[in-house]
Amino acid sequence: MGDPPGQDEILKKAGEILKSGGLVAFPTETVYGLGGDAFNPASSKRIYAAKGRPSDNPLIVHICRLSDLEKTAAFIPKEAYELAEAFWPGPLTMILQKDPLLPSETTGGLQTVAVRFPSHPLAQALIDAAGGFVAAPSANTSGRPSPTVGKYVYEDLSGRIDMLIDDGQVGLGLESTIVDLTEEVPMILRPGFITEAMLRKVLPDICLDPALLAKAVTADLDPQAIKASDTADGSLGDNPDADHTGPKAPGMKYKHYAPQGEVIIFEGDEKKVSERLLFELQKDRKKGIRSGVILSDQMLDRLKGQEEEIPADSVKCLGSSDDTEAMAHMLFRFLREFDDEKIERIYVRAVAQEGLGLAVMNRLKKAAGGRIIAL
Ligand code: TXA
Ligand code: MG
Repeated sequence: MGDPPGQDEILKKAGEILKSGGLVAFPTETVYGLGGDAFNPASSKRIYAAKGRPSDNPLIVHICRLSDLEKTAAFIPKEAYELAEAFWPGPLTMILQKDPLLPSETTGGLQTVAVRFPSHPLAQALIDAAGGFVAAPSANTSGRPSPTVGKYVYEDLSGRIDMLIDDGQVGLGLESTIVDLTEEVPMILRPGFITEAMLRKVLPDICLDPALLAKAVTADLDPQAIKASDTADGSLGDNPDADHTGPKAPGMKYKHYAPQGEVIIFEGDEKKVSERLLFELQKDRKKGIRSGVILSDQMLDRLKGQEEEIPADSVKCLGSSDDTEAMAHMLFRFLREFDDEKIERIYVRAVAQEGLGLAVMNRLKKAAGGRIIAL
């Protein structure tokens, strides 16, 4: 037996797999991706099958040099170059008119294409080894939280892909911001680490997809109350964000990021939320329901002041850093860990829906089926 393969060897092998139509899961700075050759329609079909993803939900084409943008898009407006200059390589995806040579299997049948130039060095090297164009959705089974750690890619896709390049925990933890440049006004279709304010500095007239701002359903845990508000709103279902405007990114309409347990979001000041949390946790304990919480240091202190032991089966701490940023980094990983621990109910406090908080709440609301309990 020789030495374990070095990185160059791994990348060479991965490149060969991709060039011959196989699938390779790989780390990016946002989440793990499930890659195939973007110009091979059979590879794209295999990606949909491996994820169990509807084939009308287009994939993102990943490139590793700006000059390759011209080979994916038929027309590139100056706004695209301005955004690329400011944010590429990095966690930004642009929607453009697709190049006619790009297979419609890759773009979910659309005439537009999503393109991203990731900053992760391994991702860049892999794309290069594959010939420059890697179609990759997040490397999770459709509907589950995006994997931010290699072991969760393995859990979802083992046996369905040809290779996994495991690089441990990714840096950011939420998927890229998506900006649509195919309409008159540039529009944010999916919020992420590149925030609206950052984008506005480059494109002052950029707007948010109205579906992102649609009011979340506010209900209470009482099943009767939830039922009443469902009917009143008429919009609960697989698309928690929709009012009557569907989201433009096809993927944003599907049920997403959902752990096995039920996610419950409390919105309110620390005091009210901690009181309510304790009440629910004690109730769950009496009923034998396994519950978990995601807490900031401040909330943890407050709860510890009220109770000797927090009556939760699992307590995930965000640490002392800013809540929103820590939540963005850790949310998907925590949701997966709760599944590992067979947690049935997950309580979390809402963050303000501004800046990065818009992205965090977007994912959190989907995980919670749209319900937020205002206290
Ligand atoms: O950070 C990321 O973007 C990760 C890493 C792997 O790069 N990828 C990722 O891909 O999140 P995925 O497939 O999970 O999400 C892509 C989203 C979907 O909601 C899809 O509907 C949308 O992008 N999308 C792709 N092409 C589109 C298009 N032509 N028009 C509108 N939305 C599009
Ligand atoms: Mg995804």
